[in-house]
Amino acid sequence: MGLLHLRSHAMLLLVVPVCLFSFSLPYVVAQSDTKTSARALDALLQDYAYRAFVRPRTRTGIVYNGYVPSNLTGMKIAAMRLRSGSLRKRGVKIYKEFGIPIGVTESPYVERLVLVYQNLGNWSKTYYPLPGYTYLSPVLGLLAYDASNLTATNLPELEIRASGDPLSITFQDMMSAPAGSVAECVWFDLHGLTNFSNATSGNTCTTTEQGHFSIVVESVAASLSPSPRREKKKSNSKVWIIVVPVFVGLALLVLWLHKHKHKKKMEQMQKAAADVGEA
Ligand SMILES: *[C@@H]1O[C@H](CO)[C@@H](O)[C@H](O)[C@H]1NC(C)=O
Ligand SMILES: *[C@@H]1O[C@H](CO)[C@@H](O)[C@H](O)[C@H]1NC(C)=O
Ligand SMILES: *[C@@H]1O[C@H](CO)[C@@H](O)[C@H](O)[C@H]1NC(C)=O
Ligand SMILES: *[C@@H]1O[C@H](CO)[C@@H](O)[C@H](O)[C@H]1NC(C)=O
Ligand SMILES: *[C@@H]1O[C@H](CO)[C@@H](O)[C@H](O)[C@H]1NC(C)=O
Repeated sequence: MGLLHLRSHAMLLLVVPVCLFSFSLPYVVAQSDTKTSARALDALLQDYAYRAFVRPRTRTGIVYNGYVPSNLTGMKIAAMRLRSGSLRKRGVKIYKEFGIPIGVTESPYVERLVLVYQNLGNWSKTYYPLPGYTYLSPVLGLLAYDASNLTATNLPELEIRASGDPLSITFQDMMSAPAGSVAECVWFDLHGLTNFSNATSGNTCTTTEQGHFSIVVESVAASLSPSPRREKKKSNSKVWIIVVPVFVGLALLVLWLHKHKHKKKMEQMQKAAADVGEA
């Protein structure tokens, strides 16, 4: 009996902190990992998008649809090779959901470049988690690379900038915003920065730079509490530093109370036994 009690107390003491750690650890790790894993994905998709070009003669201004590896089924990619001068002087009227106006330049300058298109489909949330928001459309990416070597991997992105009108992204594969909520554009730049702006006509976003884009609404639960936005990521991991010791403390208190109660009960039983003996 006593041994059994002791065992359950020990279990309690073990289980509570272990549970807390198993919840908090993956969370903290996932938060710091997402930026690097999204960049690793960009590199992988650059490689796979370039494989879509039919060698040895790749035409310019043509959309080449690519294939993703089977572990990323659900994503779509494409690549388009362009002369730098043509991009600047003519733009690209329609490239999937993107409209590229006249006046887009890259730096550093290259003679020809490749615009890699990404549609992350059902993987959007995995690579671009956005606490407090719900995605209404998949995350779409547009990234520019040097086209001088079409078998190159791990290429650094070029910077592209719209000097006149901005680029537009017209989302087609989109859920309608719940009544009363406002659809917002979200832009993830390549350095991990997130920026929100208003959508025009409900499904169009604009940008002057490359990156990843989507349309979101604030989640209902999040709009009841203060907006999480950017600061939340850091403070969340700090919260655990406070929460874990508090719970461990509580577990110890519960253990102590149980022991105390048990001791009292034993004393009462001994006393009762003594009373019976006297009688
Ligand atoms: C998916 O598979 C490719 C090709 O086998 C591999 O290079 C890549 O690391 C894998 N990516 C993920 C996220 O599992
Ligand atoms: C996305 O859908 C594909 C099937 O279309 C599935 O194999 C894959 O696991 C899904 N990805 C996620 C993150 O759910
Ligand atoms: C192109 O890149 C590949 C892979 O990095 C490399 O093996 C090849 O030598 C490069 N070709 C040229 C012409 O630089
Ligand atoms: C979005 O539009 C609302 C009203 O239409 C305005 O108050 C808000 O400042 C705009 N937000 C941004 C980021 O432009
Ligand atoms: C973020 O978006 C706002 C409104 O669209 C814009 O004024 C601001 O310059 C953007 N910030 C960055 C870092 O691009």
